[in-house]
Amino acid sequence: MCDLEDDDVPQLSFHALAALQEFYAEQKEHSDPGGDDKYSIGRIEENWQLSQFWYSQETALKLAKEAIAAAGEGGRIACVSTPSVYQKLRELHREDLAVYVFEYDRRFAVYGEEFVFYDYNNPLDFPENIAAHSFDIVIVDPPYLSEECLRKTSETVKYLTRDKILLCTGAVMEEEAVRLLGVKMCRFTPEHTRNVANEFRCYTNYDSGLDHDV
Ligand SMILES: C[S@@+](CC[C@H](N)C(=O)[O-])C[C@H]1O[C@@H](n2cnc3c(N)ncnc32)[C@H](O)[C@@H]1O
Repeated sequence: MCDLEDDDVPQLSFHALAALQEFYAEQKEHSDPGGDDKYSIGRIEENWQLSQFWYSQETALKLAKEAIAAAGEGGRIACVSTPSVYQKLRELHREDLAVYVFEYDRRFAVYGEEFVFYDYNNPLDFPENIAAHSFDIVIVDPPYLSEECLRKTSETVKYLTRDKILLCTGAVMEEEAVRLLGVKMCRFTPEHTRNVANEFRCYTNYDSGLDHDV
């Protein structure tokens, strides 16, 4: 039997209790992206093992607006390995648009039916509801700067898009990008939240806003 009186039970000080509550709140925020800000970039932290480098707010907004303009009202947008563009599109509350995030990182499954598991090694391995040529624009940023990765990713892009393609990748991939996807380099230069060693560029296969208002 316990013989401790109430006075003998160890008590946390007010300050220790407040610090503990703050700690638990932070833990919850990082493990459960389900609140109002569930679409904010960085809510799901970068995992460098998966080659994750999130765009800056300004770049994500620019790309999201470009995707909206290209898709048109009520259009369909595929964000392939570009989760921050998906998040920005959803933050803009454009419920008239159908937007999907194709991602290898299953943490993005918090976005429910708009998440589609995608591994570039199996470029055409999609659920039945993802029909060929069913997206007005595909915006894509492959995880690796290699010909093999871009070639396989290009198969996915060509399967998904009706026509328009917006590719973000290293400047060193220009030749392969032109050959595989028929895109050309834009004037707009994408930026990331952290410094990325390689120079990144955007490429499109249509006359885009990324060549104007830069
Ligand atoms: C260079 S990052 C592009 C992210 C983009 N800058 C953004 O902010 O949305 C590459 C993306 O590819 C995803 N990825 C990693 N491995 C992959 C794989 N095997 N297949 C498809 N995508 C993969 C990463 O999770 C990451 O979102």
